[in-house]
Formats: sequence, structure tokens, C-alpha cells
Amino acid sequence: MEIKIELTKTPKAKPTDETKLGFGHIFTDHMFVMNYDTGEGWHDARIVPFDNVTLSPAAMCLHYGQEIFEGLKAYRTADGTVQLFRPDENYKRMNVSAERMVIPQIDEEFMVEATKKLVEVEKDWVPHTDGASLYIRPFIFATDPYVGVRPADHYLFLIILSPSGAYYSTGLNPVKIYVEQKYVRAVRGGTGFAKTAANYAISLKGQDEAHAQDYEQVLWLDGVEQKYIEEVGSMNIFFVIDGEVITPLLTGSVLPGITRKSALEVCRSKGIKATERRITIEEVAKAYDEGKLDEVFGTGTAAVISPVGHLKWGDKVMTINDNKIGKISQMLYDTMTGIQWGKIPDEFGWTVKID
Ligand code: COI
Repeated sequence: MEIKIELTKTPKAKPTDETKLGFGHIFTDHMFVMNYDTGEGWHDARIVPFDNVTLSPAAMCLHYGQEIFEGLKAYRTADGTVQLFRPDENYKRMNVSAERMVIPQIDEEFMVEATKKLVEVEKDWVPHTDGASLYIRPFIFATDPYVGVRPADHYLFLIILSPSGAYYSTGLNPVKIYVEQKYVRAVRGGTGFAKTAANYAISLKGQDEAHAQDYEQVLWLDGVEQKYIEEVGSMNIFFVIDGEVITPLLTGSVLPGITRKSALEVCRSKGIKATERRITIEEVAKAYDEGKLDEVFGTGTAAVISPVGHLKWGDKVMTINDNKIGKISQMLYDTMTGIQWGKIPDEFGWTVKID
């Protein structure tokens, strides 16, 4: 499919201080748009000036939340080239989310090309500052003007871009995480593995209550027994117990993170034992009491590698590694960001250059 390009006549001023970008506040001059209509399929791929979207107040996405999204980044390397990190994995996952949410499948290779084209148009927006990158947000939503409940016949696919810094205001400093015991994020047979708006809406109440207690994020337990650890919502979670790296198994209610998968691959390539298995919060607390809980960290596109300094479970507050980043977390941070920003050789073949 051809991608038509219409350039803006009124480009915006780019941020002058890239150390103060924050996350997801600023948007570039252009966006990618594509339509889907039953009978016609995906059509009219175009790059157009960034603008508001016109929707009927009856648009189905507004009422029943038929929406999916992705998150990836473009990085500027030291020699000035721009590259993406495993974009094929994002579009593969987007089709898995689409299948669960009864949204039409996309052509993964075409979407990688469309993303490269959009980033090429917006190349000057890719930050030059260490630690900052261009966050890429592809998303699809149902647009039929209809308030009955059924899968839609019409969709919009958009990609917007946001020059961003660290997701957490603490940067690489350890975050405080609250183990949620009242609310749940996902249940067996639900949508936990899909990247869909509903999973994030459902997390807000717990996050709000955690914030009130001065905790940044919520660690979700399984939706049946509230015993097994699942994920944080904005990132997957890892524990280092007695030298072994452990992350919860993908049982269907956990997002299959691309940074999660990459972190496991990096650990294994360095001979570090890295295991995916079910792990209970009791096991983590016991390891803490026995002095065996060496490190806790989260992984995500936005979160990168985020060390966890405090974990609160009921009345028990666990201070991990003296509230300092641990050896494995630091190694993963250095390796992942090293590959992403082209500071170390990409021996895995994960990066994709923008022409
Ligand atoms: C990402 O890491 O890209 C995500 O989509 C998480 C989101 C909460 C920012």
C-alpha cells in the first residue's frame, strides 16, 4: 500500500531543554493515519499534520473501549543515525491484542515500514540528549456511530510520536511499589495479555490509592487467589533471589513485554540463570526475611529497567538492596540502553535503522 505524505505548513518549535521533556506530554508535527472499513480492509495510509481526530459522540470506542495500542521508541545514536528497537515484535503483539479484541489484523511488515517512514519524516524530533528518545504510540480504535454492543466495522489506526525522557520522575533511582491486595488487574480468560485500554483503566483505582500512601506503582497479584505475582501495569517485574533472575510466567494475564523478553535473553547470553515461573508474594517475602532477595526491578519500553527500592505488602515494607540499583539491574540497563543508543554492538540483531 502506498503511503501519501502531506507535510505541515506550520511546524512547531522543538523543545529547547531535552532534560525536562518528562514522558508523553509533547507531540511532533505529523502522525500516521489509516482507515479500516469492512469489505474494503485497511486503506488510505497517510502521514498528515498532527491534528485532532473528529469522532461521532456515538463512536463505539467511546462506549465499549474497543481499542488496542503499542509502545516503542526511536533512538539517536552517537553518529547521528536513528534506530528502532525490535519494531517487528510490537506489531506481532499488536495482532495478538487485535485478535483478542476482535479488531482486524494488520500487515506487520507494512506497519514496520510505515513507522520507519513516519520517524524519517520526524527525524529532527528525535532527542539528542542522553536518556531521551522519541516514544512511538501506534493505536487502533473503533469508530462506528452505534451504541449497541458488537465488534465494529470501521476503525482508525494512528501513530503519534512524543519526544520523551524517563517514565518515572525518579529516573534510574529506585521506585516504591505497593502490592495490591484489594483490586485485581486481570483474570483467567480475560484480556491481561493484550495491550488494550481497559487493562490500564482498571488499574487506576489501585494506583490512586498507592499514590495516597506515597507509592509510585502497584504490583498486581493474580485475580483468583491474589497470591501469585503478575506485573506492575506499566512494566513487567523481575526478582533476583539467591543469584537467580525470576520473572512471572506468561499465564495469559500478564503482558508479554518486549523488554521483558530481551532482558531474559541478555541474562541467558551472559550465563545468568533466568527463569520464567509462577512466584508467590509469600516466596518473595520469605526470601527477603532470609536475606536472599538481592534485587527487584521492572522492565518496559517506557520504564526501560527500573530498580525497585521498596515493596510494601500489607504492613510489611521490604527495602531492597539498601534502596540502591543492584548489579544485575545495572548490567541490564547498561546493555539494553547501550544497544538502543548504539553505544555497544548489537550482537542480537535487534535494532532497525531509519534510512
Ligand atoms: C510502554 O512501556 O510502552 C507502555 O505502553 C506502558 C505505558 C503505561 C506507558
